[in-house]
Formats: sequence, structure tokens, C-alpha cells
Amino acid sequence: MFEVLTPLAPDPILGLSVAYNEDSHPQKIDLGVGVYKNEQGHTPILRAVAKAQQKLLATEKSKTYISPQGNQGYIDGMLRLLLSDHSKALLDNRVAAVQAPGGCGALRILAELIVRANKDAKVWVSDPTWANHIPLIGSAGLSIETYPYFDKNTASINFDAMMQTLRQCNKGDVVLLHGCCHNPTGADLTNSQWDHILQVAKEREFVPFLDVAYLGFGDGLDEDAYGIRLLTDNLPEVLIAASCSKNFGLYRERVGLAAIVTKDSANSQVVQGQIQSVARGIYSMPPSYGGALVDLILNDEQLRHEWVSEVDEMRNRMKSLRSMLVDQLAVNGADRDFSFINRQKGMFSYLCITPEQVRDIRTKHSVYFVESSRVNIAGINHNNVEALAKALVDVIQ
Ligand code: LMR
Repeated sequence: MFEVLTPLAPDPILGLSVAYNEDSHPQKIDLGVGVYKNEQGHTPILRAVAKAQQKLLATEKSKTYISPQGNQGYIDGMLRLLLSDHSKALLDNRVAAVQAPGGCGALRILAELIVRANKDAKVWVSDPTWANHIPLIGSAGLSIETYPYFDKNTASINFDAMMQTLRQCNKGDVVLLHGCCHNPTGADLTNSQWDHILQVAKEREFVPFLDVAYLGFGDGLDEDAYGIRLLTDNLPEVLIAASCSKNFGLYRERVGLAAIVTKDSANSQVVQGQIQSVARGIYSMPPSYGGALVDLILNDEQLRHEWVSEVDEMRNRMKSLRSMLVDQLAVNGADRDFSFINRQKGMFSYLCITPEQVRDIRTKHSVYFVESSRVNIAGINHNNVEALAKALVDVIQ
């Protein structure tokens, strides 16, 4: 039966790692997949995570299934982290939530839940958005439209065009928004832009769907939650897919959260049953390990404090790498102003160069990043920044 299948092109993001690993250039540079790296180019286990692992090893007594919704300490800790202790939706018991296998798992089961509620719902995503949003949401059978977001010519958000499109959304449409640290552009909405989005969401009665994969990497854990808290405090329904891959460094443990703010607590119980049944039909039970670690970290004062300081370290390091790259580009004679890189947030930056230039830099200098010109800022370090800046100047002049 499988002879009818045709070969596929490599995944636009994951395929980069394969190509990078096969390259024998001694000074190759990997700015591809969104994974945090330290100055040595290594993705470390966070100190708080290492301590939580020790605790878990000493206390875990069984490998039987955890409950269908997942680890409740993890779920509650994550909801408070995202929505705050004072969240009206939480205090009113209006939030249904399950532990999901990674942010991707959360996105997919929420898409399936939308199909159960309204198979004709249209999902609006930013142009551009993370490449995997399209298959994750589209494979559930939902139709996808785009709203304008980033203007490469100005290297900034085209907010007027975005709002013009959102004003045309219909009641029950779903609008996917990046909670913070927009992937791929690094261009984030300001607080006042979030305020405008809230107004339009109220007017048009669309349902925001927040993808939160980089909380804490923009301006701070609370600062980055502004849009999430604003929308969940002021709208009857909001969907949230959150990931612990990046800010807890738990990439391979696949730990995420799918949460749904509902109109009232009775509806929340119905939705809780439905989202668990969606998950049961796909992977049955959530994996335990990553959620158990995050539960230990978020619910222990010392571990939490240590984790927050590690998130601060990662964020501050990425900020300093941004300015180091901007400086090096200027020093090495770039004939355009790249200071917009300093204004972008999180792990990614759109360099706003052409796909040909991205291909050129790969073939001539063994520098790897996504063809859209998205670079993983965390792949920069003191050893490679000068070579990177020179290679960029070479292909753009
Ligand atoms: C990325 O955007 O590079 C990461 O989220 C990894 C992935 O799965 O694409």
C-alpha cells in the first residue's frame, strides 16, 4: 500500500539540523532549531531541573498511569504561572486544562476540541507564523487564514493591517496569537496593542488561541504574560497552548499544557471531559516525567526561585547576544541598520534578508538558519559572532 506515497522535502526547521550535522566545515554555525544554547554551544540541564530530578528519583514509587488530565500539581502551577494567582477565570473555576505532550500536543488537541465544537471554525494565524502551526492545526481539519503581522520592509509589526483583518473576523472564528516572543519574527505586541486586540475580540466575538512557548524569554515571566492575563481576565473564552520545552529546558520530555477558559464553571466541566476524551483518542495518557519535574519546581519555593533566576539568565544572555550581533554587523561594515534586532524579543530574530541570501550564507559560510531569515539568537556566542557578522555582510552587500 505504501508504494503510492511520494518522498517529502525535509522539514524546513528540523531538516536544518541534519544538514548542519553533515557539514564538515570546522567553523560552521547553527542558528536553526529553536533550542537554547550556552556560550559553549551546549544545551544544559537547568540547575533547578537537575535538583528536581534527584528529588523525583528519591520519591517516585510507581510507574503506573497518572490521571487522565495529568499531574494536577503541574496543571495548577502552570495555570497560576500563566494566568496569575488573582486570575478571575481561575477563581471562578472557569478553566479546563490537561497536561499535554509538549506545546505541539497541546496545539493539536485544542485544534481537535475546536473541531468538536464547530468543525467550520476558521483559524486565523499571523503572517508569518511558526511553520508547524499549519500542519498541527490544519490536520485536525480546520481551515486556516492569515492576518498580516510582520512587515519585512520596516522590520516591525504592521499593526494597522493586522487590526483591519481582525475587524473582519466573524463570531466564533479563532485567532491564534503568540503570547510572547513571536516565532519566527521576534516582533512582539506592545501592551497597548494587546489592549486594542481585546477590544476587537469583544466587538467581533472571536476566540483567541494563545500559543505560549517562550514565557520569560522576552521581558520577564510576569511581563510576558500581559496579553494572556488581559484576555483571560476579560473574555468569556480563550484557548491556551503552553510549552515547558524552552523555559524549563525540557525539550525531550514533551511537557505542555492545554487550557481552555470557558464561559462558566458548568461549561468548564463539560469541556474538561471533552478535552480528556480528545487526548484519550490520540495518545490516551500523558507522559509523567516532565510534568512531575515542573510540579516540583513550581511548588517549591527554593526550586522555583532558582528556576526564575535561570530564566532571567537565559533571557539576559540572549539580549546581550542581540546587541553583540548588531555591534559586530556595524563594525564589519554592514550598509544597513540592523538595530531592529535589539528591539525583537525572545529566542528568534528575523534578519529580513532574502531566501537567496540565506542559501548563499549556508553554501559559502556554513551558517545555518531558516530560509525566512529567522535565526536562533541563542546559537550566537563570543567565538562565532564576528564570523557570523562577516558572513552576513558578505552575502548582503
Ligand atoms: C523551533 O521553532 O525551531 C522550535 O520550536 C522547534 C520546532 O519544533 O520547530
